[in-house]
Amino acid sequence: MIRLCTITELRQWRSTQKSLLVLVPTMGALHEGHLELMREARRIAGADGRVAASIFVNPLQFGPQEDFSKYPRDIESDAAMCQSAGVDMIFAPDVSEMYPSDHSIMVLDTRLSKTLCGASRPGHFDGVCTVVLKFFNLVQPRTAVFGKKDYQQLAIIKRMVRDLNLSIEIIGCETVREADGLAMSSRNRYLSDEERRQAPAIRQALLETQQCWMKGGRDADVLQGVFMKHITQVAPLHRVDYIACVNRETLEPLNEGCQNGLMAAAVYFGGTRLIDNLEL
Ligand code: PAJ
Repeated sequence: MIRLCTITELRQWRSTQKSLLVLVPTMGALHEGHLELMREARRIAGADGRVAASIFVNPLQFGPQEDFSKYPRDIESDAAMCQSAGVDMIFAPDVSEMYPSDHSIMVLDTRLSKTLCGASRPGHFDGVCTVVLKFFNLVQPRTAVFGKKDYQQLAIIKRMVRDLNLSIEIIGCETVREADGLAMSSRNRYLSDEERRQAPAIRQALLETQQCWMKGGRDADVLQGVFMKHITQVAPLHRVDYIACVNRETLEPLNEGCQNGLMAAAVYFGGTRLIDNLEL
């Protein structure tokens, strides 16, 4: 059976590894999207390299009203899935060893987290950066793999690596979807049957904006309007948190004629907040 390591065990394991190491950070409740990142990590590591995954529900990135305590946890089934995807070691620390009661240092982003998800989840990305930097320091990977589903997270991690001069390569993987287009997420299980039926409207509405873009539409208000019109027609249970047209790296509003566009959306169905995006 695959090994689950605390910090001390990880340090021991790490000291015996001479080969190339690739890390996939997760919060567990694994699905096919996570597994695809692990398979990609396996490909990058090659036959002689090692793949490490972390499974840690990070309290620092949950707001007071968010789902930290009810976030799904099933370490045994997660461990079996990691093994099937070619992971060599799972880092699964306790909250108390990651954050001693008097911990006081954090990584703060001052720019990229002010928009999109960061605007409605203050402090979230500081919690993400802090835990990911700790993973990087502990595991010391050469490469780390993240999903484009959390596009803002990926952009912020790349910025952290640049701004803090970390010697780690960051790879972004395509979003894995259900057959009806809904982006896989550990939070999809919170949806009622009717919410689940309507949720693929997020993807369809993003594809509508892409059609508009391909016909030459470059006005952010028009593109956002296309998104709103579609989702309002087909998903009466939705509540849009944001829909934005931004630059993929800076996450700032896309100027007319700009390259590297990204449509990003967050939409509530009941109490469940779903995100998705599309590179234009
Ligand atoms: P989590 O939500 O568990 O996601 C772990 C990784 O899986 C992230 O890089 C995320 O973008 C990727 N992922 C999730 N759903 C995906 C999908 N449908 N297709 C492809 N990739 C997908 O993101 C986090 O955890 C945390 O913030 C973390 C980085 C681990 C820090 O705590």
